[in-house]
Amino acid sequence: MSKIIIEGQKELSGEINISGAKNSAVALLPASVLCKSKSVIYNVPEISDISYLIEIMEFLGCKIENKNGGLFIDTTELRNEPIPENLSVQMRASYYFMGALLARFGKVEISFPGGCNIGARPIDIHIKGFEKLGATVEIIKNRYIITAKKLKGTKIYFDFPSVGATINIMLAASGAEGTTIIENAAMEPEIVNVASFLINMGINVRGAGTKTIEIDGYKEPDNGVVDVFPDRIESGTYIIIGALLGKDLRIKGIIKEHIGALLMKLDEIGIKYQIDGDVLTISKCEDLKPVNIKTQVFPGFPTDLQQPITTLLTQIKGVSTIEETLYENRFKNTYDLNRMGAITNILTLNKLEVKGPRKLKGTKVITTDLRGGASLLIAGLIAEGVTEIEQCEYILRGYSNIIEKLSNVGAKIDFFE
Ligand code: EPZ
Repeated sequence: MSKIIIEGQKELSGEINISGAKNSAVALLPASVLCKSKSVIYNVPEISDISYLIEIMEFLGCKIENKNGGLFIDTTELRNEPIPENLSVQMRASYYFMGALLARFGKVEISFPGGCNIGARPIDIHIKGFEKLGATVEIIKNRYIITAKKLKGTKIYFDFPSVGATINIMLAASGAEGTTIIENAAMEPEIVNVASFLINMGINVRGAGTKTIEIDGYKEPDNGVVDVFPDRIESGTYIIIGALLGKDLRIKGIIKEHIGALLMKLDEIGIKYQIDGDVLTISKCEDLKPVNIKTQVFPGFPTDLQQPITTLLTQIKGVSTIEETLYENRFKNTYDLNRMGAITNILTLNKLEVKGPRKLKGTKVITTDLRGGASLLIAGLIAEGVTEIEQCEYILRGYSNIIEKLSNVGAKIDFFE
């Protein structure tokens, strides 16, 4: 079991480059199987979720070459095999092969998706969407078998603007006859990134980034090219680290509009930063004010930054609160934060109270999910002494070259297999 060891309280300065977005890239790779022959995806982050997706695609007969800063994907010999459980269970995004293979072949067989255990995470909205397009969904043991003689474009209302369901139905609808309209769609930047890829491969998609998305089915998508957007959650994580330990720390590659809710909250806390183009410069701030945070779908405060910002709140004088509206089990990191000296109280399944300021002390902690891991890593960076983070595979699932990036700006951090 690999671990990360951090000697805390090092001032950080220099520049950190933001990588491509995990939550875009893990949708773009499955989307590439819509292409009859070729596609290229640039700026793919080096994270373990991508390695698992490549394993699935090679299992299905794709040829993938990593060169010139991009993944060159050849889907000419794509086969529609049932996707093995040991691969699909590695991450949530394996479910994007449902929409993509259904569009291309009219059939897909895959096990229940994996992913961080931060709540029940059902996929009922995806399933209802596939059925509305005319597919039949069978569940045998823990496998989905989804078939459609013919997918037919139609109007679909989502009960909730789910990111995953919006993307999966966009993929399936690209293989349907006629036009599909998704109402109450998710508006996250990842949706826009995927839509730009589909449009580039010849599929007509309108309204991505709004609550209403229209997709015209198209039988010959091919030769798609796309750049993965910068990772807004990675950006937010390093900005939070900069507010705690930075000395003119430069975060390069941000898109301001993608992190608006975070910047608003930092302003409320009293954190100062400068933005110049795609570079945000930040230094350690004093006299911070407590705040109340409520996670919401985009453009609201992202749930994926809830745990990283919790560590910042432990350093602020007064009582802050967090209301987590998307997941019912996303406070597990607080147990270890409290063991390091923080004072956080889970008031209800989705309400957390954080009292500060508290000096944190390094100790052994265990990661239970990706963003919880980031929260503990930040705690290790500000803690007195040495912190040992076990099960850090979770962190490497979503943060590209994090050890290197932090070491380069002065952190004392090491990774051990
Ligand atoms: C995506 O997950 C991200 N994952 C998550 O990031 C992120 O937290 C989430 O969007 C919200 O922004 C990827 O993109 C791979 P949802 P997804 O469908 O698609 C409920 C990270 O740390 N729901 O928008 O699974 C669901 O249970 C990860 O990078 C249903 O009830 O999110 C959840 O409570 C964690 N039925 C809420 O909606 C459904 O069919 C949001 O889910 C679908 C979702």
